[in-house]
Amino acid sequence: MKLFHKPEPVVCGDCLSHIAFIMDGNGRWAQKRGLPREAGHSAGAKNLRKIVTACRDRGIRTVTVYAFSTENWNRPKKEVDGIMSLLADYLDEAMRDKDKNKMRVRVLGDLKPLSEDLIWKICDLEEATAGFTDYTLNIALNYGGRQEITHAVNELIAKGVTEVTPEDISAALYTGGMPDPDLVVRTGGETRVSNFLLWQSAYAEYAFTKTPWPSFGERELDAILKDYCGRQRRYGGL
Ligand code: FPP
Repeated sequence: MKLFHKPEPVVCGDCLSHIAFIMDGNGRWAQKRGLPREAGHSAGAKNLRKIVTACRDRGIRTVTVYAFSTENWNRPKKEVDGIMSLLADYLDEAMRDKDKNKMRVRVLGDLKPLSEDLIWKICDLEEATAGFTDYTLNIALNYGGRQEITHAVNELIAKGVTEVTPEDISAALYTGGMPDPDLVVRTGGETRVSNFLLWQSAYAEYAFTKTPWPSFGERELDAILKDYCGRQRRYGGL
């Protein structure tokens, strides 16, 4: 009898240190199955756990995910509440498992409109995981790239800066001090950037797949990573 084994994961920590995901297609995934949109987000949150582990297994040190945009407040209250509740569960779980995971968790975005309970969970988790330097998960929440750049510039103005450099702006972003993303993956079939990491992705590579986020698995991740590792990044040079 012939035994089949899962192929080895593509290990690409040397050429890729930061991957970002636009986790799109949750709603359509659910609708196709006759389920409410919230079920798609729930399946999406489950898949996030899987993909974060998969990235870590492949030597990728930083993962950033787009969980909720500044425009997502325009969705029905039931759907917004559902996403916030999934986030709260995720933060609770990350807090419980922090010593096992040894992963820093940061939230990027304007936290002010969030519930007090969620803000406390975020602050507590960021503080409790700040010492883990090998792996980082950034959750973009109430995040918009233009809003982030505007916020950064206003912070610099408030400090009395009268002339800014690109480095000043990079440092004042929510991602200040982190490496820029090497690769941005968007699931769900749309081929747009949707206000995600606008400044940081200036030289990022992009990969788009029709697969909705809840169905995006390790096999497709490996195919994308393999393709990425074969690309030549020239950063505007020859
Ligand atoms: C986009 O799909 C996805 C979102 C707006 C929410 C993403 C949230 C999660 C994956 C779960 C919560 C996050 C964490 C960190 C636990 P869509 O609803 O726009 O899908 P559609 O384009 O098919 O309608």
